[in-house]
Amino acid sequence: MNFSLFNLQNILKYLKRSVVICQKLRKFARNLNLHNCMSTIQIKDKSFTTFITEDKILKEVSRVADEINRDLAGTNPLFLSVLNGSFMFTADLMKRINMPCEISFVKLASYQGTSSTGKVKELVGLNEDITGRTVVIVEDIIDTGFTMERLVETLRARNPKEIRIATLLVKPDKLQVKLDIDYVAMNIPNDFIVGYGLDYDGKGRNYRDIYTVVNE
Ligand code: IMP
Ligand code: MG
Repeated sequence: MNFSLFNLQNILKYLKRSVVICQKLRKFARNLNLHNCMSTIQIKDKSFTTFITEDKILKEVSRVADEINRDLAGTNPLFLSVLNGSFMFTADLMKRINMPCEISFVKLASYQGTSSTGKVKELVGLNEDITGRTVVIVEDIIDTGFTMERLVETLRARNPKEIRIATLLVKPDKLQVKLDIDYVAMNIPNDFIVGYGLDYDGKGRNYRDIYTVVNE
């Protein structure tokens, strides 16, 4: 009887210790940002795997913000965020812009599925007078460049002082037009990606990391 009570007390002691160790391990994992480890997601018929983690994205977004703060101080720029894809990039970028400025949101979509169609829609949502102003286009990704070329042309017709382009991503090997891209967070290969605002048929924009397709 005494022996089994002793055993029971020992088991309880070890269980308590195990709980404490588990709690410490969980805290350690949180500190290591283990949620950012490689993972695979499924969207419709495609699998995607982690490609660029949130930490890396934010590091590059901060660098771009530093460059813009340095270059455009005193110009009261108007940031034009191209919806839908650039909403996360715009939010993280603007939190790091430390000068007086304005933000507006426009739409100019040209993409369906995983390949650029070349069809470009009209610019909607620009209500500001941009005459004589410094305008910074904030875009998620430049692929063929047709969307950006069209947007720059449309804005130029409204006589701004200067147009700058800030993009989260560029696929340099896909670019088909000549563009002066002032600020690039990251260059990436041709593969189709989702996450951090970018979608596959409307899905996947909510992920904090960027994922690349694995089964094309
Ligand atoms: P572009 O006119 O070919 O440069 O296409 C630009 C637009 O296509 C971007 O604003 C995105 O909305 C979309 N796009 C291009 N590549 C990708 C991708 O890999 N994933 C998701 N959307 C993309
Ligand atoms: Mg876009």
